[in-house]
Amino acid sequence: MRYITIALAKGRLAHQTLDLLEKGGITCEEIRDKDTRKLIFANPDLGLKFFLSKTSDVPTYVEYGAADLGVVGSDTILEEGRRVLEVLDLGLGKCDMCVAGPASAKEALDTNRIRRVATKYPAIAKDYFYEKKHQTVEIVKLNGSVELAPIVGLSEVIVDIVETGSTLRANGLEVLERICPLSARVIANEASMKLERERVLDIINKLRNAIGNGQD
Ligand code: PRP
Repeated sequence: MRYITIALAKGRLAHQTLDLLEKGGITCEEIRDKDTRKLIFANPDLGLKFFLSKTSDVPTYVEYGAADLGVVGSDTILEEGRRVLEVLDLGLGKCDMCVAGPASAKEALDTNRIRRVATKYPAIAKDYFYEKKHQTVEIVKLNGSVELAPIVGLSEVIVDIVETGSTLRANGLEVLERICPLSARVIANEASMKLERERVLDIINKLRNAIGNGQD
């Protein structure tokens, strides 16, 4: 039997996903070992493999079929723009992708006078400003602590994830526009959905049942 491989984003979401899979009887003891440096784990009885990768690489592994399924935030799916099928919203890690900045930037945003936007998500920011708002802005890619950018004068606004809003508040910033809601999604390789349909759907259904949207 061919192994079905599931790519998980290292961190909290991987553990939450494993909890959901366990509810459906899918277990993998080895992956729970906090001290392990291994990246790939197998359950030969179930014909399943799991691997942990950097979050932004999950859609890449799934597009190329190195993983049949993946679990990752919709921010990463949108940003990476990979050819994958989004098959289930797990409803975990709910937050919003937003344009944020000081209240004083609101007018410039409304009147198309923003010059620079800093973000960890340049593809999402470009799509929003160029395609949806038809505004010409310079997108500056940062790798973290994006809230700094408007404070130190790198950009007028940022495009970033807002969950509780406490990072914005602590830095005198606020949500100026909401781009889209985000949450963890299950993605599937297109060919796997055809060639391994039954086994892949079985895993998706177990996850669906575990989050309480079960049909059976
Ligand atoms: C994320 C995001 C915001 C913060 C939002 O950052 O980029 O900074 O969380 O959460 P809040 O609304 O609950 O405050 P992360 O912790 O991933 O760190 P980073 O910005 O350095 O990547």
